[in-house]
Amino acid sequence: MFPLHVYQDRRDRLKGMMPKNSLAIISAAHESIRNRDAEYPFRQSSDFWYLTGFTEPDAVLIIGPEHPDRLFVRSKNPDQEVWTGRRLGPEHVTTGLGIDEGYPIDELDSELTTFLADITWVEYPFYCNDSAKIVDRAVKAKETKSKRKDRLSHRADLSRFLHQERLFKAKEEIDVMREAGRISALGHVAAMQACQPGMTEDQLGSIVEHTFRMEGSPAVAYQTIVGGGDNACILHYTDRTTTLNSGDLVLIDAGCELQGYAGDITRTFPVNGSFTEAQAELYDLVLSAQADAIDAMVVGKSIKSFHEAALMRLTEGLIDLKIIKGPLEEAIAEKRYAPYYMHGTGHFLGLDVHDVGMYEIDAKPIELSEGMVITCEPGLYLDKRSDVPSRYRGIGIRIEDDVLITQQGPEIFTKDVPKERSEIEVLMRG
Ligand code: GLY
Ligand code: MN
Ligand code: MN
Repeated sequence: MFPLHVYQDRRDRLKGMMPKNSLAIISAAHESIRNRDAEYPFRQSSDFWYLTGFTEPDAVLIIGPEHPDRLFVRSKNPDQEVWTGRRLGPEHVTTGLGIDEGYPIDELDSELTTFLADITWVEYPFYCNDSAKIVDRAVKAKETKSKRKDRLSHRADLSRFLHQERLFKAKEEIDVMREAGRISALGHVAAMQACQPGMTEDQLGSIVEHTFRMEGSPAVAYQTIVGGGDNACILHYTDRTTTLNSGDLVLIDAGCELQGYAGDITRTFPVNGSFTEAQAELYDLVLSAQADAIDAMVVGKSIKSFHEAALMRLTEGLIDLKIIKGPLEEAIAEKRYAPYYMHGTGHFLGLDVHDVGMYEIDAKPIELSEGMVITCEPGLYLDKRSDVPSRYRGIGIRIEDDVLITQQGPEIFTKDVPKERSEIEVLMRG
């Protein structure tokens, strides 16, 4: 957890943007059942976590420019705490979290009716069903009470302020994300060192995740992808049941989570430690596309420019390797690369792996600015069925790093895992 003033400052900034006489409602996540009475590991809602630092389920934050900050939490219950863990309790909200007032979550609906008595404008993150349900109940209660139709006449999406705040990372967030990048890189290095033909994709993935845990990350930021051979061409492949074959490449897309912040790395390497000629040709092409894209990740450039740089290089290379036909401008205009490169070159990264923030404002791409963290992840996917020279079939490659945009140029949080072919081969030889 960051020092409490970090969360207070975030709430204060948000309140400074909200309209007069409005209230914002931000719900925490609930636990969800996996099967019978076993639950999925709990993960706090990112917006709620960002504003409170509080990691228990079933809580609701209510803030407004003219109101004290209020947090509803589960009441303490010694009998239940023996089974499911300690609770902060409403009486410790102020000392524990620096939030003005704590309330029992069971009193949310009745207290909310009082807080909303003179409010006509309510804000919540629209995508968040839990927050929306609370607002719906409050509106209903108000209608019934006042016999007038929906006196909470203005509902606005808090995301327009909150998600733009989350997009620009502050120093303390950058420090955590740099560490998430370092730990994620160690996981990939461990996998390269341990990889042997005959292992399953899942066994290799477990080495990555074991390293994350041993380095202090409690969870993965998303389901680890390990795809051997043709499986690397399935972008979000999570099956991981196939045995890794000598002569194939393996693609690992894995990142740890640290204090809620995501790492997101992809590396692709030969199962037996040596690239074939055909694999090397495609690998070097993706690597040079990534280098061109990272060069374009500078303050003031359009957010589209690094994708365009990657596309240009990949298309040029695909023409040189006779996988598609030129000339270059025509191949780009007709998207001849698209069967082999079908995704964007990067996304914002933060508390969510595909983090919040607007890529366009008024239909105009935004400019890259200091404090944004963006992945750079070009790839090529030539599956077994593709209409390409046979030596390239069954090869999927992606190379992904996490990049902080700074005035001094891009800083790569994930630089500690090799990506030059020769470096990978040396590391795998041991
Ligand atoms: N790990 C998901 C992605 O790279 O977008
Ligand atoms: Mn990514
Ligand atoms: Mn990824």
